[in-house]
Amino acid sequence: MTPTTITRVHARRVWDSRGRPTVEAEVRLACGVVGRGIAPAGASRGSREAVDLRDGGTRHGGHDVAQAIANVRGPIARAIFEMDALDQADIDAKMIELDGTPDKSKLGGNAMVAVSLAVAQAAALAHDMPLWQHLAGDEPVSLPLPEVQIFGGGAHAGRRIDIQDLMVIPVGAWSYDDALTMVAEIYRAAGALMQESGKLAGVADEGGWWPQFATNEEALEMTVRAIERAGGHPGTDAALSLDIAASEFGREGTYTLALEGRSLDRDGMAEMLLDWIERYPIVSIEDPFAEDDRDAWIAFTRAARHRVQVVGDDYLTTNAERIAEAAADAACNAVLIKVNQAGTLTEAKAALDAGKAAGFGTIVSARSGESEDVAIAHLAVGWNAGQLKVGSFARSERMAKWNEVLRIEDALGGDGRFAGAAALPPRK
Ligand code: PGA
Ligand code: ZN
Repeated sequence: MTPTTITRVHARRVWDSRGRPTVEAEVRLACGVVGRGIAPAGASRGSREAVDLRDGGTRHGGHDVAQAIANVRGPIARAIFEMDALDQADIDAKMIELDGTPDKSKLGGNAMVAVSLAVAQAAALAHDMPLWQHLAGDEPVSLPLPEVQIFGGGAHAGRRIDIQDLMVIPVGAWSYDDALTMVAEIYRAAGALMQESGKLAGVADEGGWWPQFATNEEALEMTVRAIERAGGHPGTDAALSLDIAASEFGREGTYTLALEGRSLDRDGMAEMLLDWIERYPIVSIEDPFAEDDRDAWIAFTRAARHRVQVVGDDYLTTNAERIAEAAADAACNAVLIKVNQAGTLTEAKAALDAGKAAGFGTIVSARSGESEDVAIAHLAVGWNAGQLKVGSFARSERMAKWNEVLRIEDALGGDGRFAGAAALPPRK
């Protein structure tokens, strides 16, 4: 036995930011430290994601996680007992083997990701290191360019608008702290504008303002006005970023904009987005087409990549093979990295590496259902991802992550390089 030998694996039910049950795992090592990880949960999920094991039935709307917790306490605990927490890849491989399904539906992606994160935290603690430093080893790190939601929509706001996320990226910021300062003012300015126009209806799942707009484009206009009201120059200080999450309303090449009562075919959808890119200072578009609409992705990226970052989320589901395929197709030029889409830290890192190898922009991302777990802040820094997407600038499950990066920035002092706008993929 060494100090980093796993001596106990435990799990309990805790609650996520939507008030739904989720899995918290704890891993104790021989040296006495305990690492902890909490599984997040998505609402607009890609069909190829690792599956969360939920109990079904009527309790908590079928979302309870008793079986996933039993899987951690039983088979997973037995399988990784007395393994070395420093062997993250071996531990993750052991869980994958034990699960034996392509989508992690037997043990549950939620059970596996909680354990995987807890192992990494325990290993970092055993070396008396923050997680980002443990993950980085001797590799360079950077403070991420934040991508911050101003308006929530789609599955996160009762489908009040069709676009899921209307975000800003502070492209003119010179440090991470400066970036958040800018975003804070824009977020509050947007709230004030909504209040004045009588369109404020609360906040959505990720803390963005819940919009009462008549068209999707109104959200773009309002964000530009919020940047101006905050004293910024749209496009130079802060630019727009959209997560269309088109798999939510696109079926077999038809895209139904419920808010506007109209349907677009692939070409119509591409035309609308290219027109927006022409008329608004947009630097990033995520999931512009449904996850099975490959040809539309390829055509759109060809037309838009000299202007914007085209991000695959539901399209790529943090999967190294799919990222390599998308790179060969030139179907996008950036990838969202969500650890629970992959199911283990090792697979998420492989996806990030595949993205980097392809020259893609890489964005570590939270889910719409989150918790006080701040591990993703450390992944963004320690993996040198360049960009971080956490949701909006309100609600403590979001602020905890933004604030954690401030702590890391402070600890790094002059050694902390801010990735800045250079984290966006080259426009070509
Ligand atoms: P989700 O949304 O966590 O509900 O999937 C986030 C996103 O689509 O980026
Ligand atoms: Zn998305």
